[in-house]
Amino acid sequence: MDDVLISQLPPDILKSSLRALVSQNSAAQKVFVEHVRILLRASLPVYPSPSELFGDKPCYVQFLASIRCLFTSKMAIESLPYFSHFLSCIPLAHAQWQSNDKLELALEEACGDIVQAIQALKESRSMPTEELRERLMSLSKAVNKCEAYSLSTNLQFPFVRAQLQVEDALRLIFPDVRLNPHALGHALKINNKRAISPNSVTYAKLEHIDLGPLKVPRIFNGLWQLSSPAWGAASLHKQHMNFEQLVRVGFVATDMADHYGDAELVYGAFRNQLPPEIGDKIIACSKWCVFGPPVKPVTPEFVLEAVVERSRRLGGRVELLQFHWYDYNAKDYLQILVELVKITKSHPHLVTAIGLCNFDSQHTEEACQFLLQETGEVGIVSNQIQYSLVDSRPTMKMEAVCLKHGVKLLAYGSFCGGFLSEKWLNVAAPNIYSEEAQLTPSQRKYFDMINNWGSWGELQTLLRVLKRIAIKHDVDLANVAARWVLNRPSVGAVIVGTRAGISDNSESNLKVFSLILDAEDTDQLDEYTLRTNRTQMLYKKIGDCGSEYR
Ligand SMILES: NC(=O)c1ccc[n+]([C@@H]2O[C@H](COP(=O)([O-])OP(=O)(O)OC[C@H]3O[C@@H](n4cnc5c(N)ncnc54)[C@H](OP(=O)(O)O)[C@@H]3O)[C@@H](O)[C@H]2O)c1
Repeated sequence: MDDVLISQLPPDILKSSLRALVSQNSAAQKVFVEHVRILLRASLPVYPSPSELFGDKPCYVQFLASIRCLFTSKMAIESLPYFSHFLSCIPLAHAQWQSNDKLELALEEACGDIVQAIQALKESRSMPTEELRERLMSLSKAVNKCEAYSLSTNLQFPFVRAQLQVEDALRLIFPDVRLNPHALGHALKINNKRAISPNSVTYAKLEHIDLGPLKVPRIFNGLWQLSSPAWGAASLHKQHMNFEQLVRVGFVATDMADHYGDAELVYGAFRNQLPPEIGDKIIACSKWCVFGPPVKPVTPEFVLEAVVERSRRLGGRVELLQFHWYDYNAKDYLQILVELVKITKSHPHLVTAIGLCNFDSQHTEEACQFLLQETGEVGIVSNQIQYSLVDSRPTMKMEAVCLKHGVKLLAYGSFCGGFLSEKWLNVAAPNIYSEEAQLTPSQRKYFDMINNWGSWGELQTLLRVLKRIAIKHDVDLANVAARWVLNRPSVGAVIVGTRAGISDNSESNLKVFSLILDAEDTDQLDEYTLRTNRTQMLYKKIGDCGSEYR
């Protein structure tokens, strides 16, 4: 019967069903990818000629789709010659594009694809084989030739992110490789044409807090959204324009991670182009995420190497380095934290402060106690966790631990990926597996959270309450959701998911600082979260903060 069903289902239902299957069953996901790889290897894409790719009946959309299938099915190395070919064909075909036309948008998307393919290579710690070196070098040459072509024809060069990412991979995997130090400078300078001046920056409307030695705004920009084209892909130029706007209104703190695509490279390049008076105000927060047993023995040198790597990608200091550890039974993390705190003192040009990422209450307490005992001070300044009207688990134990040790919470998911905004008020529940819904990875994650917390119907009730309060104070619905989190004990800041170059919520998010929730507002909101048994239920179902990552 299954055979008949599969052969008869319309493609959209088939796709939706397949998505449901692979996302709910990790064994099925492995079989799926393995099967796809076998089929793809048996019929690799053909190389179209430059005129076929960019001529009268261009086939670049189909060609890019076939390369995307390669690197998303863990065939990143195999995808590299196809990207090199694609880039080489641009000057050969004398391709022309204009701001935001179909071709420019496709090239920006292709750039995002190259970034993701190379990121997959970096994260899989690919062996430094001669074949890989040659493929990366060819790609680097092709991207540089394309840049020369763009410059000579006065076209906006859409591949700066790819250029940064390829060079970073070469440096990481082949430290002996010789790269032209000036190659990147030019493309970055072009992007720098509209640098902001110190006079155009206003910080006055914001609230700030101290994170150890750092003074930070209580809204951070979050760049997880750069880790997949599923959030949309934009050129470095557009991303930097977006960052400029954020800095202009005072949102100078940005959260990134070693595995958020090219976020560190992109933001580092941005910071390093700013006039020093502004650049010095930037708070670049990144992460060191250890998701499995370390590949080397844990020594002070190993820890320093990890810090240097992140600082290199940022092209300067990491103001806040947040540490994620995979398994609390592997106790190395305690000594690593001691070393990290020591490095803030011995190498202040590399890192200023240390935070935790997704630590639960018990192990935040344990880490603080250990640091106190070993160094005489708590040393860590923050813990980054999920915190929203929908996920109020931090109220159970985390707030108290943080209050005790002066650790600030950096909250993510406070907008549930955007579900806590006007856009979703009075809207039916989306089918998260359908093509049409166009949900972001963040929304898929928080859709699950909403279902763990309650139901879509109950979310609608909460949205109506938020809307009533928003109207009363003449702010946006999302501001009320963020303010409730900011008002909780120990919360330092809310990290706002930022689709740089795609969407801009900076003006709206500024309003959170003029919003004062009165007792009645807070009471109504608490009614939906704290005074139900939802928090306890979530805690029981998922565990304490960060348990979903272990
Ligand atoms: N450590 C971890 O495990 C972890 C996990 C998740 C996130 N994070 C961090 O936290 C950041 C937050 O991301 P998130 O995924 O949790 O998403 P989120 O912040 O809950 O939601 C982000 C989305 O909310 C919408 N939004 C923001 N401000 C708005 C406003 N004023 N009005 C209306 N809509 C608004 C935007 O949608 P549009 O773009 O459609 O406008 C945006 O894309 C990440 O980038 C990352 O830095 C960390």
